Amino acid sequence: MTDTFIAETPLADTREIIAGLVHPIAHIAPKYFYDARGSMLFEEITELPEYYPTRTERAIMSEHGAKIAQKVGAGGTVIELGAGSCEKARALCELVQPAHFVAVDISAEFLHEAADGLRSACPALDVRVVAADLTAEMPMPADLPRQKRLVYYPGSSIGNFNFPEALNLLERCRHLIDDDGALLIGVDLVKDVAVLEAAYDDAAGVTAAFNLNVLSHVNSLIGSDFDLDQWRHRALFNAVDSRIEMYLEARTKIRVSWPGAQRDFEQGERIHTENSHKYRVDDFTDLLNRAGFRHADIWCDSRHWFACVLARP
Ligand code: AVJ
Repeated sequence: MTDTFIAETPLADTREIIAGLVHPIAHIAPKYFYDARGSMLFEEITELPEYYPTRTERAIMSEHGAKIAQKVGAGGTVIELGAGSCEKARALCELVQPAHFVAVDISAEFLHEAADGLRSACPALDVRVVAADLTAEMPMPADLPRQKRLVYYPGSSIGNFNFPEALNLLERCRHLIDDDGALLIGVDLVKDVAVLEAAYDDAAGVTAAFNLNVLSHVNSLIGSDFDLDQWRHRALFNAVDSRIEMYLEARTKIRVSWPGAQRDFEQGERIHTENSHKYRVDDFTDLLNRAGFRHADIWCDSRHWFACVLARP
């Protein structure tokens, strides 16, 4: 497909995954959650009663979206990072009325379907797709206008990154826009630990299935032999680093093999799969400042659980 840009080779993925598995503290990067099944499970998570971020952000946007759209202005370009189902994109494009829309996501297959859905919902909108890993280059189509760009990064996906990584990503967002551009970003805020942990360990077990699914994705990417039944989902709030940490914990002694190597896990040993940072508003605006965004308008829900931030240079 001519409108697709592949930003990373499968070989780089293979090397990255294996390096994480053989590391003394085993880890798999959260971007590997999002194969077709993982993307579907994530959509299910967003509808869980315990998972407040999606509906809270949606409520903030329906209450304040018109004001935000007015500040942004129509006729520009919206670039959505981690576009997923393009469900939020549709709502935002109805508000902002851009001329161009670019959906950036790691899961290319899922993204094409979503882009087609957006095209039929908004026939006047020029919809493009960029398959890219947000931790690397985000190559924009060469003919995409530079003026009046709005980078849209909803869902508190910024939470996956630690401080230096988040700063780096925000700096690259700054470089995607000119002085007339803006960044609209959703940020999950610090709150009661019980609320946080329930959101990442729901009663129906959807988050557990989502976490475990990364192992079958890894199996298909590197030819490993992870048996999902041997692993247990864990989600814990780390108050010092202000983040939910997700792990897969070995139920028993396990040997995992793939072409060329293997790794032994003790019973109870964990593979780290995700961090989801929770911010205080001031800490987040500091971060934005350092990335070159000097102005920020902030909208929150009444419980102050989530913030939508419109940041400008
Ligand atoms: C997509 C990164 C925003 O951290 O809340 C949801 C991913 N992981 N449940 C989050 C996720 C487990 C989600 N983000």
